[in-house]
Amino acid sequence: MSTEALKDAVLENEWHPVYIASELKDKPASVTILGERVAVFRTAKGSVNALRDLCVHRGAMLSKGHVEGETLVCPYHGWKYDGSGACVCIPAQAKTDKIPLRARAVKYHCVEKYGLVWVCIGEPASELPDFEEFENPAFRPLPCGPYTVRAAGTRVIENFTDFAHLMFVHGGLLGHPDYAELPDFKVFKEKDRVYTSDVPIFQPVAHSGSEAREGTTYVYVKEVFRPLAARLSKRDAATGQTLWILLTVLPVAEKECIVYMAVSRNYGFDVPDEQFIAFQNTVFEQDAWIIETLKPELLPLDLQLELNHKADILSVAYRRWLIELGVKTGTT
Ligand code: FES
Ligand code: CO
Repeated sequence: MSTEALKDAVLENEWHPVYIASELKDKPASVTILGERVAVFRTAKGSVNALRDLCVHRGAMLSKGHVEGETLVCPYHGWKYDGSGACVCIPAQAKTDKIPLRARAVKYHCVEKYGLVWVCIGEPASELPDFEEFENPAFRPLPCGPYTVRAAGTRVIENFTDFAHLMFVHGGLLGHPDYAELPDFKVFKEKDRVYTSDVPIFQPVAHSGSEAREGTTYVYVKEVFRPLAARLSKRDAATGQTLWILLTVLPVAEKECIVYMAVSRNYGFDVPDEQFIAFQNTVFEQDAWIIETLKPELLPLDLQLELNHKADILSVAYRRWLIELGVKTGTT
C-alpha cells in the first residue's frame, strides 16, 4: 500500500474522522492523516486527545504506550504526556528536578461527534458539518466503518455524489438496470454546501422476468459539505421513512483513504443495528471495488479530461468546488 504523504494545505485544515468513538477505550490508537502518524487516546475522565505519534525524547511511537489517568505514557522510558502535549513526568529524573519546557509533544485538535473521533492536524477551516438528524433523540444514530480504500479520498466522495451507478454497481440492492433513467434534477451551491433537488429513484422488488412493477420509489437528496465530507438522505416517498448517511473520508495518503459513515434513521428501531451495518458494509464493498479500478487514480480536475453527462451535475459541481478551494488531490 502506498505510504506516500499527501501534502495539501487545504486538507491539512480539515477535520478528518479517525476512529469509531465507542471503540476508542483505554488503549491508545495510531492513525495516519495525510502521511502524518497521530496517536489518539481517551483519558480516564473520558476526553479524546490527539498528539503527533512521536515521543520528543527518542522518537518512540506514543500510541504503543498506555493511558494512565489523564496522560499517555511513552512505552520506551515512561515519559508521561497530558492532553495538551506537555510532558508532566520523566521517571528517570528526581521528582524535584524541573521538566524542560521543550519536553512537549505536538498536539492536534481532536473532538468527538456523530459517534466518531475527529482530528485536524492544522487549524480547522470550518466547524464539523451540521447533522441534526444524527443528534435528534427521536432517530436512531449509528456509526459505520471503517472501510479502507486504495484510492484517493476525492474519488470516494465523488462516487457518493453519483446517482447513475446505483442501478449497476448496486443492482438489486439500491436500484435495477431496467429503471436506470434519471429524472432531471438541479444542483444548488451555497457557501459551504453543494446539493441536489429531490431525485426519485424506483427500486423494483426482485422478480423473475414478470411484468410486475412493484417496488418502492425513494427520494434522494445528496449534499457535499467539505472536500471530504458528503451526505445523502433517502426517503421512502410513500411512508416518509428516511435514512441519512454522512460519509467522511480520512485521507491516509494520496491514493489511500479510510471511510467512516455516520448513519441515522427514523424507522426500523426494532431491526438490530447489525443488520444495518451489514447492509452498509455490502453496499460499500461494491463501491470500493469499482472506485479502486478507476483511472486516473487522482480525480481529474480538468473538466475536459472526461465526458461529463447531465446526470453528473453534482460531480461536476464538486470538481469545480475543489478547484475553487485549491485542493491539490487531482489531475489537471
Ligand atoms: Fe519516549 Fe524515551 S522515547 S520516553
Ligand atoms: Co455506491
